[in-house]
Amino acid sequence: MNIKIRNEEAKDYRRVEELAREAFWNLYFPGGHEHYVVHKMRSHPDFIKELAFVIEVDEEIEGAIFYTHSKIVSENKEEYETISFGPVFISPEFHRKGLGKELINHSIEVAKEMGYRAILTLGYPYHYEPYGFSGGKKYGISMPDGKFYKGLLVLPLYEGSLDDVSGYAEFSNVLDVTEEEVDEFDKSFPPKEKKYQASQDEYEAAASLLDD
Ligand SMILES: CC(C)(COP(=O)(O)OP(=O)(O)OC[C@H]1O[C@@H](n2cnc3c(N)ncnc32)[C@H](O)[C@@H]1OP(=O)(O)O)[C@@H](O)C(=O)NCCC(=O)NCCS
Repeated sequence: MNIKIRNEEAKDYRRVEELAREAFWNLYFPGGHEHYVVHKMRSHPDFIKELAFVIEVDEEIEGAIFYTHSKIVSENKEEYETISFGPVFISPEFHRKGLGKELINHSIEVAKEMGYRAILTLGYPYHYEPYGFSGGKKYGISMPDGKFYKGLLVLPLYEGSLDDVSGYAEFSNVLDVTEEEVDEFDKSFPPKEKKYQASQDEYEAAASLLDD
């Protein structure tokens, strides 16, 4: 396998959106919205173009990662700039071959070089703990409802970057899409059936797990 990671370019947009749709469809809920999120994100002020990467296998794109600006808001309303990735995805037929690892590690290295304080992301701990992410509770970082969830994962990008920083995580509002917007955008792709699958139950249970 000849593997290459590079910044996403305009010519990649459709392939990347098709891949996002394949990777997420029916995974966490019936249907999927990540292909639309990616589409919308690219022209949003919170988008970080320098951290949008694709991974190619033998010159064909098989995965991508996207970052947006986020922040930690402290009790006295001070704001600390952070960044967040998501969506990140690899073509289903290439899972567990180390591609996600290459892509995530590369993006973390570039984010460090750019001087960012920390990465906050939402997901399964087993996906991100291998890179050094820990549950937000370790750093006193909650969700906006003030609760510590196992699915809020935090990675400081330099020594002491989160010392004296705590509060709640605020993600970009570009991630909040409506079903109507998604359905409208989805019409430009071949029809795909929205249906239940067992992975949705795992996600539902994981999303509400508190870190106590
Ligand atoms: C999550 C995702 C990007 C991982 O990509 P990948 O190329 O399959 O991951 P890698 O092969 O690089 O795995 C790296 C490590 O992550 C962990 N990991 C990845 N997928 C895992 C899984 N399904 N279960 C348990 N651990 C997992 C493991 O520690 C793995 O190392 P190992 O294979 O040596 O045990 C990919 O599974 C994906 O696209 N999933 C669908 C979309 C999604 O859920 N994205 C994340 C939410 S935004």
